[in-house]
Amino acid sequence: MNLKFYISLLFLIAQTYLFSQTREIQELESWKFYQGENQNAYQTNFDDSSWQEVIVPHDWAIYGPFDKEVDKQVVKIEQNNEEKATEKTGRTGALPFIGTGWYRTKLKVPESAQGKQLLLTFDGAMSNAEVFLNGKKIGGRPYGYSYFYFDVSDKLKINEENIIAVRLENEPRSSRWYPGAGLYRKVQLITKNPVSFQHWGHTITTPIIDEDMAKVQIKSKVNGDNICVETIIKDIEGKTVATNSNCQQFGDEIEQNIKVNNPELWSPSNPYLYTAEVKLFQNEELKDQQEINFGIREIEYTTEGFKLNGEVTKFKGVCLHHDLGPLGTAINRAALKRQLSILKDLGCNAIRSAHNMPSLEQLELCDEMGFLVIAESFDEWKRPKVQNGYNKHFDKWAERDVENLVRATKNHPSIVMWSAGNEVPDQHGSEGVKRLHWLQDIFHREDPTRPVTVGMDQVKAVMESGFGSVLDIPGLNYRVHLYDEAYEKFPQGFILGSETASTVSSRGIYKFPVQKGYNMTYPDMQSSSYDLEYCSWSNIPEVDFVEQDDHDWVLGEFVWTGFDYLGEPTPYDNYWPSRSSYFGMVDLAGIPKDRYYLYRSRWNTEDETLHILPHWNWEGREGEVTPVFVYTNYDKAELFFNGKSQGIREKKKDSLLERYRLMWKDIVYEPGKLKVIAYDENGEPAIEKEVVTAGKPHHLKLEADRNTIIADGEDISFVTVSVVDKDGNLCPNATIQLNFEVSGAGEYRAACNGDPTSLEMFHLPTMKAFSGKLVVLVKSNEKTGKIDLKVKGKGVKDGKITLTAEAKDSEI
Ligand code: GAL
Repeated sequence: MNLKFYISLLFLIAQTYLFSQTREIQELESWKFYQGENQNAYQTNFDDSSWQEVIVPHDWAIYGPFDKEVDKQVVKIEQNNEEKATEKTGRTGALPFIGTGWYRTKLKVPESAQGKQLLLTFDGAMSNAEVFLNGKKIGGRPYGYSYFYFDVSDKLKINEENIIAVRLENEPRSSRWYPGAGLYRKVQLITKNPVSFQHWGHTITTPIIDEDMAKVQIKSKVNGDNICVETIIKDIEGKTVATNSNCQQFGDEIEQNIKVNNPELWSPSNPYLYTAEVKLFQNEELKDQQEINFGIREIEYTTEGFKLNGEVTKFKGVCLHHDLGPLGTAINRAALKRQLSILKDLGCNAIRSAHNMPSLEQLELCDEMGFLVIAESFDEWKRPKVQNGYNKHFDKWAERDVENLVRATKNHPSIVMWSAGNEVPDQHGSEGVKRLHWLQDIFHREDPTRPVTVGMDQVKAVMESGFGSVLDIPGLNYRVHLYDEAYEKFPQGFILGSETASTVSSRGIYKFPVQKGYNMTYPDMQSSSYDLEYCSWSNIPEVDFVEQDDHDWVLGEFVWTGFDYLGEPTPYDNYWPSRSSYFGMVDLAGIPKDRYYLYRSRWNTEDETLHILPHWNWEGREGEVTPVFVYTNYDKAELFFNGKSQGIREKKKDSLLERYRLMWKDIVYEPGKLKVIAYDENGEPAIEKEVVTAGKPHHLKLEADRNTIIADGEDISFVTVSVVDKDGNLCPNATIQLNFEVSGAGEYRAACNGDPTSLEMFHLPTMKAFSGKLVVLVKSNEKTGKIDLKVKGKGVKDGKITLTAEAKDSEI
């Protein structure tokens, strides 16, 4: 595909405005971009005509190419128990994110903005941002994940052209994973009256919740005097449920306490959102107005567990990195929503934004779709993990970065805990305890309603130093063998599995003989999907299940990870071309691996789960032992192989492996059919499933996650392409090179096959199938109508799917 063409088409839709009577929000989407240093690029008269036109959010590095030399690190990873330094190639994804990049945009501010307050806001900029306006530096932000803004009221020229220039620079050895590069989150200009609500000025809490009523407290920070604030609270249907007004101003704050009768409580199963429409008047003149979504919900951490609205709720959580696979780190709502939809089906109820501030779009979706969130801040404090990591900025910036995290996100009901850090080396020594006190106090000062955790891996050290006791919530990363001791020693009365499992697997790949073990590697650089391989510091999923099932005081877990991510290709950190992780329950393309169904069998309590592994195409393994595993929510199942019963297996409480999975270890491979029947508690057949030996690749099957998308130039349909035999069975070993063509009211955006060793670029319209599958991303442009995706491959009949792009008022 022609990238330039794609981008210039997009350029036409740039700079969207959102008007209200009193505020305007302008999305700054259309920018010129240059990858490299250019000393004069901040100057107003600089000629950027040869620069690339891009749409922000934009990740400059995701277009590759993958290169072994990018950020090659010869390091000893201490937290992974390594004893000597080795060459790590794909640690940060092997994509060209290192170096300098410049963005420039022109901005004309209308006459009506005269005398207004103008804020230039960034949801994140990767990294070391320096922002220039009309040739002058107005400020910067080193941390790429921080939200930040500038008041540019007296700097923007009205009715004339303004030039905003942003210089970004990513250093080598500054990250432990792919951080992305560029203006990867949204940039906005907010225009409002000088007399108005302050930015991030509202704090909405629900200090009293009863069946009949809830007290909703809204504290609003305002600019100006003689101000009255009026609020209308609306329910999810838009019906007014309460109104209030208050003119009592204390300093720059006005507080309202509003009664909502018969409140509908927010929870993952009922993500009920209210909207507060707040209006600011000065001398009876309307000066500002905002709408804020909030939830009414109560959180409590007790020795009986975490309670949500009074009910014990175990965290069935996953850690997620911020990249979106083939889209890189550029924020896209459709991709985030798909990710969360897949996790909903899994029965997952919680997300940890590992190891940085989540995007605001992700938080909005978590509110709407019902996920509990640990919003994390840092992977490093003062002591380094990587040479040029956050350690360089901690002293100067940590307080401001935490303030902005809390101020920008505190009204999201989904957030139930803050995380001040992950496995920070400062866990050792008294300086670290001091830093923890300092940071935790900042979180408490900014938000007294939520507790603070840190993901701790140095459990012996934090037991001794007091670090673990200081925390509101002691989070343990792995170290399951120390849970009992930590529970005894720590005074909180509970333990959180802030990071668990780190089991590794590659979708559709199985290794023989089937063995449980750590740091296992194979010549093809894949890990086995029998789900028995892990790292020296980690474990198989069942080890965590036992802790949670046998102890009320374990609050739940956050599995490393929900989805695969770019970088950190453990256990192949020092093998090339491994460039993305093996930890996900779901691969980089968003296709579930077998492990997904093991978690689903216990997490999803609404739907049945019955999943058989491995696939049954083992040409060459005839006569060899090929174990069959079944993941199901039922306790009992019977396996039939080519019509013959192989016996019933039942879950056993006293066995680690057989407590959660059913295994037929001695099946000798012959082609044919595996069928499993699960039995309910009365011994009646409840559900059955089959896997057959597939024939030769015959045609391509295309299935879209959404057949209708919005014609907004951003929405994406994710089409899973499967290579199937003439009867429609997946050919699980197919690696056919596939080519993609999109026509009509949409464009080819990217593809991904989930193979952690693939060096094919995501944005090119060709890719090999991996284990018989891949996913094609089709993006809308601004036209409505039909979109055709055609997929072709040698030796198979073409696949075709028609999608629809329609105009819709409602965003997805
Ligand atoms: C943890 C760490 C994660 C990731 C994981 C891999 O120790 O917190 O960021 O590196 O190990 O197992």
